[in-house]
Amino acid sequence: MNGGTPTAIERRFVHHPVMVTEVVEHLAAVPSGAFLDATVGGGGHARALLNARPDLSLIGLDRDPSAVEAATTVLVGRGAKICHASFGQLGDVLDSLGISRIVGSLFDFGVSSPQLDMPERGFSYRRDGPLDMRMDCAQKLSADQVVNTWPTDELAGILRSYGDERYASRIAAAIASARPIASTTALAEVVRDAVPAPARRRGGHPAKRTFQAIRIAVNDELNQIEPALETAIGRMAPEGRGVVLSYHSGEDRIVKRVLRRQAGLDDEARLRGLPRAATQAPPAIELVPRGSRRPSPAEVADNPRASSARFRAFVKRNAAIDEGEA
Ligand SMILES: C[S@@+](CC[C@H](N)C(=O)[O-])C[C@H]1O[C@@H](n2cnc3c(N)ncnc32)[C@H](O)[C@@H]1O
Repeated sequence: MNGGTPTAIERRFVHHPVMVTEVVEHLAAVPSGAFLDATVGGGGHARALLNARPDLSLIGLDRDPSAVEAATTVLVGRGAKICHASFGQLGDVLDSLGISRIVGSLFDFGVSSPQLDMPERGFSYRRDGPLDMRMDCAQKLSADQVVNTWPTDELAGILRSYGDERYASRIAAAIASARPIASTTALAEVVRDAVPAPARRRGGHPAKRTFQAIRIAVNDELNQIEPALETAIGRMAPEGRGVVLSYHSGEDRIVKRVLRRQAGLDDEARLRGLPRAATQAPPAIELVPRGSRRPSPAEVADNPRASSARFRAFVKRNAAIDEGEA
């Protein structure tokens, strides 16, 4: 909302920004300049940050046109530039806006509540809808193709690696033999029936991990994270600041690896017993704190979708290790 009566898009696009106090507390100390919100969604974090730092020029990206519309409405009059783009293109977007340096960045991965709550988007295992799950509706690949055409072993592979699904092979085989599957609730039923009865009663809805895995595959969510974080860090001015919020182990593993490497805490080299090379660039960032933070119990009680969030934050110190100065 902009302080007045909510507009139709604001009423439809309700997303509670996760760990917003912690996010703003860290980012409010950025120098003046252009701030990148790489996943602007409904603009909740962006608005809170601009309330604390009205001098920042905010660039917001989202690959979902309905999020772009919502953020544009929420941030009207704040001088924000909201672009329909994937963060995989963030270097090109910044170039096209003539921005070589940013003073900070926020990546808040995953899906927004409106994406989950609108049955017609096909993300929900509870509400009936088409097998879609595309964040950007202009994209060709949808959940329908993954569910109804992918080979069984490929399906099992994504259930395992993107969903940490114990019963990946059984579920993939059940999906393949139930084809064609026409809707989200039909898929959820096939998955529930494929899971052994005692496991159905543990750990939430039995289709939750399958839906997460298919959604990640449809939107190719993991492959863009590393290059995008490196570009953002490479473009960041000294004393710039960043926050990354991830929601499942696959995302957080990548984020942790990139941030630790940029902070000069290269776990692979350490594990192999290699000394830090004298010629190696000094760390580009400092992690603050060193590890991750979780939402408070009070926030989780209020917004259960925050429960899996992991918050990682950093301050830019030097030229980035991989990207060099932009
Ligand atoms: C958790 S929501 C962000 C919510 C936002 N921080 C707020 O306060 O309203 C995640 C958003 O990231 C977007 N998204 C996911 N992957 C993306 C990508 N590769 N590039 C750009 N946006 C992406 C989704 O469409 C979704 O709107």
